[in-house]
Amino acid sequence: EKKEIFELDGRQYTPDALYNLSPAVRRLLDRRILQETSNPLNLLKRRVVDYVHQTYRKPGNRSPLFTICESEPRVVTTYQNFDSLLTPEDHVSRRPSDTYYVNREHCLRAHTSAHQHTLMKQGLDVFLVIGDVYRRDEVDRTHYPCFHQIEGVRLYTRDELLGKKSDASENAAELFTVTRDASRIPEKQETHSLDAVKAAEIQLKQFLESLCDELFGRDADKRWVDAYFPFTHPSWELEVFYNGQWLEVLGCGIMEQKLLESAGVTDKIGWAFGIGLERIAMVLYGIPDIRLFWSKDTGFLSQFAGKQPGEDVKYKQISAHPQVIFDISFFLPDSTEFNDMTSDVYDTIRTIGGELVEQVKLTDEFENKKKAKKSQTYRIVYRSHEKALTKEEVNVIHKQIEQSLSTTYGVVLR
Ligand code: PHE
Repeated sequence: EKKEIFELDGRQYTPDALYNLSPAVRRLLDRRILQETSNPLNLLKRRVVDYVHQTYRKPGNRSPLFTICESEPRVVTTYQNFDSLLTPEDHVSRRPSDTYYVNREHCLRAHTSAHQHTLMKQGLDVFLVIGDVYRRDEVDRTHYPCFHQIEGVRLYTRDELLGKKSDASENAAELFTVTRDASRIPEKQETHSLDAVKAAEIQLKQFLESLCDELFGRDADKRWVDAYFPFTHPSWELEVFYNGQWLEVLGCGIMEQKLLESAGVTDKIGWAFGIGLERIAMVLYGIPDIRLFWSKDTGFLSQFAGKQPGEDVKYKQISAHPQVIFDISFFLPDSTEFNDMTSDVYDTIRTIGGELVEQVKLTDEFENKKKAKKSQTYRIVYRSHEKALTKEEVNVIHKQIEQSLSTTYGVVLR
């Protein structure tokens, strides 16, 4: 399915022989589930962003410290995705079996780190990059060709990291080493001073540990594990003990100085991290399969719709059988308020419908002032965990609900 022009995010590319996007991936690109407010990934994203905005503000004014970058183009150059991040020429991730290529020079971003170089070059020092990333992978309960990441970057000048030099302290620490310890060791890169790296490491780990406390609760155990990434050194992964197992939550490290230099930053050092959202959302919300994030089933989405980012939400498995949808409309008894009616209606529907009622929603409400008549419509989604319900059997229950509403509360069915 090769076309003359490939268009995405308002830009055009000319595919060549390397083009390997399947129609299925094309459809994933068009979904934008992270923007859907009733998707649990959107809920988790807002939780992280809200927390970061509340916790980190610019000194002086109270505006957020982190710039949020959510609309970077998802096609990036191979320079952005690999070279700028010092990925070796022969690294497996470059293979067309691992990465979606549009042509020799362009691919779908395989991680949000692909934007580090460009954003630093634009002059950003403190930012989050949020979005969907794409890797050719097997599909199973925990793997899917598209998933979502939050990238964080923070660059520091000497003063920001180590404090203002006072006149007294002639030997104040510097970001970069002069000569003596100018070698790469497990603790640091060749050009960095150990003082600066240690200070940055403390800030990075504090940032991420507090974020984890916010997501998993203060008493969840955490541990730092040494890691390797081509674009950070030293590098770590943070693991959290949750639901009886160690969960790998993120990768991070002190940014390779070469990256900053190639982006034109000469007087700062920085840290970066990358968080995968799916894995965290799965444990936090009890979602058993990564493919559920792509579900359009309202039985799934309605469990997250309208929730606050900080709320505890636990997913309850939806039925594999089809829904049967019935509406109910009635006039309220004279002088009954809309609000007073609504909770009685919900109660009645749940009591009579029991397990077979998956969702109830007030879908319409109006008042005819002249005739002093108020009317409401509710939509009831019926669904059984045991079998496919027929319209006929649902109708029996639905009629009972109507009956009960009219005899108990005096509503007049329309
Ligand atoms: N980009 C890395 C990944 O996708 C995560 C990462 C980001 C690691 C930033 C270190 C620093 O696995």
